[in-house]
Amino acid sequence: MQTLHVELGDRRYPIFIGSDLDPQSLLEPYIRGKQVMVVTNTTVAPLYLEHYVTAIEHLGKTVATCILPDGEQYKNIEHLNLIFDALLQAGFNRDATVLALGGGVIGDMAGFASACFQRGVYFIQVPTTLLSQVDSSVGGKTGINHPLGKNMIGAFQQPQVVLADMSQLSTLPDRELSAGLAEVIKYALLGDQDFLVWLEQNMEGLVARDSGLLAEAVYRSCAHKARIVANDEKEQGERALLNLGHTFGHAIESYLGYGVWLHGEAVATGMVMAADLSQRMGWISLEDLERTKKIIQRAHLPVKCPAIPLQEFLAYMAHDKKVLNGQLRLVLMKSLGQAVISKEFDVELMKQAILANQEKA
Ligand code: NAD
Ligand code: GLY
Repeated sequence: MQTLHVELGDRRYPIFIGSDLDPQSLLEPYIRGKQVMVVTNTTVAPLYLEHYVTAIEHLGKTVATCILPDGEQYKNIEHLNLIFDALLQAGFNRDATVLALGGGVIGDMAGFASACFQRGVYFIQVPTTLLSQVDSSVGGKTGINHPLGKNMIGAFQQPQVVLADMSQLSTLPDRELSAGLAEVIKYALLGDQDFLVWLEQNMEGLVARDSGLLAEAVYRSCAHKARIVANDEKEQGERALLNLGHTFGHAIESYLGYGVWLHGEAVATGMVMAADLSQRMGWISLEDLERTKKIIQRAHLPVKCPAIPLQEFLAYMAHDKKVLNGQLRLVLMKSLGQAVISKEFDVELMKQAILANQEKA
C-alpha cells in the first residue's frame, strides 16, 4: 500500500492506494463519532457494500445505508434529498460520518450531503471507479446537477480519508476504465513529461488492469492533484489546469446529451482539440500532437467527436465555468507536459482545431 497526503493544514488527509485494502484498520482512526451512513448505488451495493458495512460494524459503529439508483441523471436535488431522509430516519447527529462508496456520482452527492446535513458532518471517500480514484475523490469538490447546468450546485467539502482499492476495479466495465485513463493521461499532458513516457511504456498493462500498474498510475495522478489542491484549494488559479480538455469536452458532452459519451471520452477528444490548437499556435510540434493522439488511442479512447455544427459547439463552450467576465479561458499546452490557462488564443485557429477533430458530417 502507498500513502499520499493532501496538505491542507488542520484539514490534511491521507489517500491510501493499494489492493485488497483492509477497511477496518484503515478507516478506524478517521471515523470520529459513532454513526456512519454508507451511500452507494444499486450497481456497487451488491458488489462491495457488505464488505464495508461489516468492517465498520466491527469497529463498534452504528451503520445505516442509503442505496441510490445508478446514473448521472440521478445526481439531482430529488435524490440528494434521499440521503437527508436516510440520515434523519436513522436519527444521525452532528458527529455522523457519510461514507461514499462508488464512482464520482456517488462521491459528489454523498460529499455534498455531508457538507449540508446539520451544517456539515464528517465525510469519507471510497472511490470505486478509476476516474473517481484519480480525480473526483480528491480535492473536495462535491455537488449535484441542475436542469440548467452540470455541477452547478455544490460545496467544497474535503474528506477525512480516501481509500482507493485497485481490487475493486476488476468489476469495472472496459469503457469506464478507459474513461478513467483519460484523466490519468490528463495529468501527464498538463504537468509531467516523465509520467507521459511511463504511460507510453505501460498503457497496454493498464488497459489489461495490471493492479500494480494501476496503483502506480493512481498514485502519480493523485500526487499531482494533491499538490495542485494544496496550492489552490478553491480554484483561484492553478487548479483550473485540471480542466485540460474539459471546455471542449463539455461542449461535446452537452451537444450529444449526457450519457451518450462518458465524461472521460469527451475529455479525451477535448484534449486532442486543446493540443491541436496549441500546435496551431506554434507552442507544441506536430510530433507532440501525434504523441497526444496516440496515447489517447492506446487507452481505447476517441480522438474525434461526431460532426457538431460549429456555432452550437461554440455556444456550449461559452457556458463553461471558466468563462470570466464574458471571456473564454482555455487550458492549452505551452509544451508537452506543461499546460497554461490562457485567454490569448486565436479564435480562428480554435475553430480550425475543433473542426479538424470531428468526423465529417
Ligand atoms: P459513475 O459514478 O457514474 O460510475 C460509472 C459507472 O460505474 C456507474 O454505472 C457505476 O455504478 C459503476 N461502478 C462504479 N464502481 C464500480 C465497480 N467497482 N465495478 C463495477 N461498476 C462500478 O462515474 P464516474 O466516472 O466515476 O464519475 C463521474 C462523475 O464524477 C460525474 O458526475 C462528474 O461530474 C464527477 N466528477 C467530479 C469531480 C470532482 O472533482 N468532484 C471530478 C471529475 C468528475
Ligand atoms: N476535476 C477538477 C478539479 O477537481 O478541480
